[in-house]
Amino acid sequence: MRKDLGKELMFMPLPVLMIGTYDGNGKANVMNAAWGGVYDYGQIIISLSKHKTTDNLELKKEFTVSFATKDTEKISDYFGMVSGNKEDKIEKSGVHVSKAPHVDAPIIEEYPLTLECKVISFEDGSLIGEIVNVSCDEAYLDENGKPDVDKMGIIAFDMVSNSYRVLGDVVGKAFSDGSNI
Ligand SMILES: Cc1cc2nc3c(=O)[nH]c(=O)nc-3n(C[C@H](O)[C@H](O)[C@H](O)COP(=O)(O)O)c2cc1C
Repeated sequence: MRKDLGKELMFMPLPVLMIGTYDGNGKANVMNAAWGGVYDYGQIIISLSKHKTTDNLELKKEFTVSFATKDTEKISDYFGMVSGNKEDKIEKSGVHVSKAPHVDAPIIEEYPLTLECKVISFEDGSLIGEIVNVSCDEAYLDENGKPDVDKMGIIAFDMVSNSYRVLGDVVGKAFSDGSNI
């Protein structure tokens, strides 16, 4: 037996994306965004209402996206609870910032994996960005030079229980396990 739960927005897992931008004074800001994903090859989409971040995006047209981790869970939630218009989130959280090499946007050093993006369009609250570079803290690369998801402790947003969860065990191989059914 199945039970209807009605017209609910239950979609999972969602990412925990940290959008890094600079304002007109070169001040770095970060916000938390879970309503995001892949748009096309090399492109991402994030659904955004109005924030300091969107003002910055309209000005600079460039941004970074980092993936929140178990170690950065508390500050990542903070980055989603308070606006940079009210507090200096960088100063209060104590994170370390450097300018991204390929875009005019900040890299937050505490996040191991970061996408550097240019705005393709931002219409009706849908931000579409082109990834121009990806960088990863070397300490989180595996022996093949790829980002090690387990080592990074990347977290996902569970919108049913309003919780952050660490990505779990590998349970199979994609484009492979389905071949012998
Ligand atoms: C878990 C979580 C997910 C969020 N996802 C989004 C989102 O996808 N889109 C959005 O517009 N705001 C989202 N927010 C809200 C913003 O992060 C929040 O309004 C933030 O204060 C904006 O910061 P800013 O004004 O410094 O840019 C989310 C917040 C949390 C805690």
